[in-house]
Amino acid sequence: MKRHWTDTLKRLAPYTPGEQAQGPDIIKLNTNEHALAPSEVAVSAGRALSIEALRRYPDPNSSVLTAAIAASEGLDVDQVFVGNGSDEVLAFAWTAFLCDDLNVPAIPEMTYTFYPVWGQLLGHGVERIPMTEDLGIDIASMAAWEGPLVFPNPNAPTGRALSRAAVKDLLESNAERLVVVDEAYFGFGAESVVPLIKDYDNLLVTRSFSKSHALAGLRVGYGLGSASLIEGLRRVKDSFNSYPIDAHAQAVASAAISDIDWFTQASSTIKTNREALTNGLQSLGFDVLPSLANFVLAAHPRYSGEALTHILKRRNILVRSWSSEALLPWVRITVGTHDQQLSVLAALSEVLSAD
Ligand SMILES: Cc1ncc(COP(=O)(O)O)c(C=O)c1O
Repeated sequence: MKRHWTDTLKRLAPYTPGEQAQGPDIIKLNTNEHALAPSEVAVSAGRALSIEALRRYPDPNSSVLTAAIAASEGLDVDQVFVGNGSDEVLAFAWTAFLCDDLNVPAIPEMTYTFYPVWGQLLGHGVERIPMTEDLGIDIASMAAWEGPLVFPNPNAPTGRALSRAAVKDLLESNAERLVVVDEAYFGFGAESVVPLIKDYDNLLVTRSFSKSHALAGLRVGYGLGSASLIEGLRRVKDSFNSYPIDAHAQAVASAAISDIDWFTQASSTIKTNREALTNGLQSLGFDVLPSLANFVLAAHPRYSGEALTHILKRRNILVRSWSSEALLPWVRITVGTHDQQLSVLAALSEVLSAD
């Protein structure tokens, strides 16, 4: 039956999303969803959607949402692109800018595992740059790559972030190449590089409503950059799917952007909980990387990440680990609510004290 598959499809190793288990008893800390409920203002905007808005196609350009994002970032509307999750914005960026022989992007060795999939799907691969000893992004080696660069800031799954000044140095190391900074985890303490857009037309920043605004179910992300980069993304969108953002998602996301009080309070709760989770894990003997995201990467001297994932799963607690060599010791735990974190720490404490 695979006789119709192209060679690319046969070779492709698709991205594996984290398990989306349902159930009231499950503590789900495996896919970095926000610990809190989204803004009530945003939810109400969705409920208020008219029947007429459902009968008709949505605005293909998500104009209201685009304008709301532009206003909140101090950019022009032609510097904003909205997509179906930042995964789609990144996939479009790959299609538009990162898939010919002259434009093979370098990515950090430990990073978001979707990047190499797009590299494979679109046929030109990626160059992986080894991490520094403390699992940071190696700026000097990234700068030495002549082609485009793609990395998350903060990085995933390490949670470590580069300063805006470090990203500026990278941009200046070669003004010709495109630098894509994936800010999926913005809003949890890392410095955003969006203020650099006015000076660097080779900078594309991607963002997500999934993490910062607790709207992973909505599937909305966006790209910010020079008008020419944004036009490139629009050309791909309009050659692929004119209406990627449905009417409900446009209404909810536009309202979410305007609810600054929710955003400030929710971000502050995540920072507080992240510190409590880090301290709790450290007191159980874990090595925990300093994170500016809504997750922490932790390793225990006696258990692999995979072993801990299985042990916790038997107790209805989902966390994430990987089978790649560099990540074997590590387990990634999403910052949860106060109670969820107490349950995780209690479960780990019980397991560790039993042997
Ligand atoms: C680094 C990174 N970038 C992008 C995404 C995609 O986010 P979304 O498509 O939900 O906006 C994720 C999701 O986990 C991520 O970890």
